[in-house]
Amino acid sequence: MLEVNNLSAFYGSIEALRAIDLWARAGKITTIIGANGAGKTTLLRAISGLIPTRYGVIRYVGQDITNLEPYKIVKMGISHVPEGRQVFATMSVEENLELGAYLRTSRRRSREIRGDLDFVYDVFPVLGERKTQSAGTLSGGEQQMLAIGRALMSKPRLLLLDEPSMGLAPLVIKGIFTCLKRLHEEGLTILLVEQDAQIALSVSDYGYVMRAGKVRLEGEARELLQSEEIKRIYLGEEQPPEGGSDGV
Ligand SMILES: Nc1ncnc2c1ncn2[C@@H]1O[C@H](COP(=O)(O)OP(=O)(O)O)[C@@H](O)[C@H]1O
Ligand SMILES: [Mg+2]
Repeated sequence: MLEVNNLSAFYGSIEALRAIDLWARAGKITTIIGANGAGKTTLLRAISGLIPTRYGVIRYVGQDITNLEPYKIVKMGISHVPEGRQVFATMSVEENLELGAYLRTSRRRSREIRGDLDFVYDVFPVLGERKTQSAGTLSGGEQQMLAIGRALMSKPRLLLLDEPSMGLAPLVIKGIFTCLKRLHEEGLTILLVEQDAQIALSVSDYGYVMRAGKVRLEGEARELLQSEEIKRIYLGEEQPPEGGSDGV
């Protein structure tokens, strides 16, 4: 569904992505894992057209989308849940969701959007319970659900997710990944970026490991979970992982 070939991107003279090759297959969950600063966010932003790329090609369902304007990429069916959620704190939950549908202008629009809101509330019931509340009053986990819900409102076929687990407690993370699995079962293709290799690989079909702007390793997620190198470097078996979650 999404194919990235030989992609490079720069911040000034710094090469943040170096000749990336990657493939996200239709109907699958593909993950990109790697430490902080590896280039994961940069890659998702390049796919979404949010930063320019210098070399290489990005193809989506056979069409070249390299350096297209972001709204065109959204219209084609790619939706991006950004790192750090970026919900509009002073707006209500429902207003945040409606913003996600801003590109749709058909005459049946409001009925369609109503149906899509109902779908989001079905996947994330807590958002329905809090639809009139301002987004800033939600917990971190609820804000992550809202960010995903907002992305769903553009009716994507491919969802790009940037570190949905960031800063959340293990139980909250589990809840969010359960919802992602449901979306996947309903046919959504997912490209998931994560620092939490364990949880990312455990829900994914295929994985890529990035370091310093390059893909260092790739394979079936099941196999990467068993790989000695991954265990050593990314699953924290040399040192116990830090209890780095600061609440919900
Ligand atoms: N706006 C920016 N300007 C300059 N350098 C940046 C910018 N954003 C990220 N970088 C650098 O690019 C590299 C990759 O960053 P990023 O894609 O955010 O990594 P990750 O998401 O894997 O943590 C890092 O070295 C980071 O410091
Ligand atoms: Mg990042």
